[in-house]
Amino acid sequence: MKKAQQEAYKRDYAQAKAEGKPFFPYAIYKDHIVAILCFAWIIGMAIWHRVEIGRPIYEATTDFVPRPEWYFFFLFELLKIFKGENFLTPVIMATFIVPNVLMALLVLTPFIDRTPERRLEKRPFAMAVAMIIFTSLAWLTYKGATSEAASGALTFEPQDDNTELAAKVIAANGCQSCHVIGAGGGNLGPNLNTIGNQKRGVQWHIDHLKAPSSKVPGSPMPPFASLSEPDLKALATVLDGLGTTYQVK
Ligand code: HEC
Repeated sequence: MKKAQQEAYKRDYAQAKAEGKPFFPYAIYKDHIVAILCFAWIIGMAIWHRVEIGRPIYEATTDFVPRPEWYFFFLFELLKIFKGENFLTPVIMATFIVPNVLMALLVLTPFIDRTPERRLEKRPFAMAVAMIIFTSLAWLTYKGATSEAASGALTFEPQDDNTELAAKVIAANGCQSCHVIGAGGGNLGPNLNTIGNQKRGVQWHIDHLKAPSSKVPGSPMPPFASLSEPDLKALATVLDGLGTTYQVK
């Protein structure tokens, strides 16, 4: 800080101190009044408006695709940016590393940014960084809110009884909340569009679907042991031929 700035600041401060009201109890008192009014408003709305609780949980459901609350959409979308064969990469990057690095930078800002200027137009760099962060958050939230959990609309070529059944089973079991199949899907599990190239065999897929960890120790994929034999067989046949015998659209 330059000498003149320092003196100007001290002058302003002394004046504010002489004329202003003290933080305690004045500001605290005002804060309390506002907080109480806010709570009264929320409680009033809850009583007046009857909050809807929704349908009871149906535990046996298999087609529920979980979606986060709106204020987590940016994290939800961030997960998709760090896609990779390794399912842990997006989780570690998007829920731990990126948010924590940003938080650490926020905490360190007063130590890094030592300028005494407060006016926005005198702080183009800080403004630009803030704008970039808020724009990215808004954009990610928008993308997360509008991204469809892809399901149902799968078509396989060539079509046969197996592909018809497999498309239904995939839609009903939410495979695409974790896997890209066709054009869309999640990235917690590997992209399955060319899984047939691995030539694992139909039986491997049946066993893996029934109990993923029996084939891939520690697999986080949920078991689909309740699928019927014909469903499993059709799904496994299509999976084993995806990218070779069958193409997906
Ligand atoms: C909760 C997320 C999740 C769901 C839902 C899910 N999977 Fe998976 N899946 C994974 C993960 C993670 C892996 C990687 C570990 C493994 O191979 O078991 C995986 C692996 C696989 C593999 C082996 C891929 C490879 O490259 O080795 C196949 C095939 C597969 N899943 C098919 C399915 C099908 C079909 C469904 C729906 C019936 C499904 N998955 C539902 C998470 C999921």
